[in-house]
Amino acid sequence: MGQREAAEKQRARLLRTARAAMKKAYAPYSRFRVGAALLTTTGKVFAGCNVENASYGMTNCAERTAIFSAVAQLGPKVEVSAIAVVNDHGVPCSPCGACRQVIYEFGPDAIVFFQGADGEKRAHITELLPEGFRLK
Ligand code: THU
Repeated sequence: MGQREAAEKQRARLLRTARAAMKKAYAPYSRFRVGAALLTTTGKVFAGCNVENASYGMTNCAERTAIFSAVAQLGPKVEVSAIAVVNDHGVPCSPCGACRQVIYEFGPDAIVFFQGADGEKRAHITELLPEGFRLK
């Protein structure tokens, strides 16, 4: 299998896993279900969905759920190489600003797959979040 084909297979796997996770979303307030799936640099896949709260600001997005789940399972050395996000409205949905910063924390070289204004899109995290914050 060529490199391009392997990358496409991985993208398809992430989208499939994100779609399955989306069905678990707890979104009674927005009724906007979101799923995310990430690939670590060690080849593991983790999924997440949005989890809302009656106190709206406590809502956790699908992307952060996936990343926090990976850290909870693997520990603090998680490195995200790619993350995909899908929603049940089939509308454009790129990660919010807070999630971009969290993706950057664990994946400064991550590729993000999402639905853009003109269809399926892939972007490097630093395109979505230039000059992300790092504490060093
Ligand atoms: N949401 C996500 O989970 N990820 C995104 O990338 C965009 C927004 C969630 C948060 C909230 O539960 C709902 O979508 C509507 O904003």
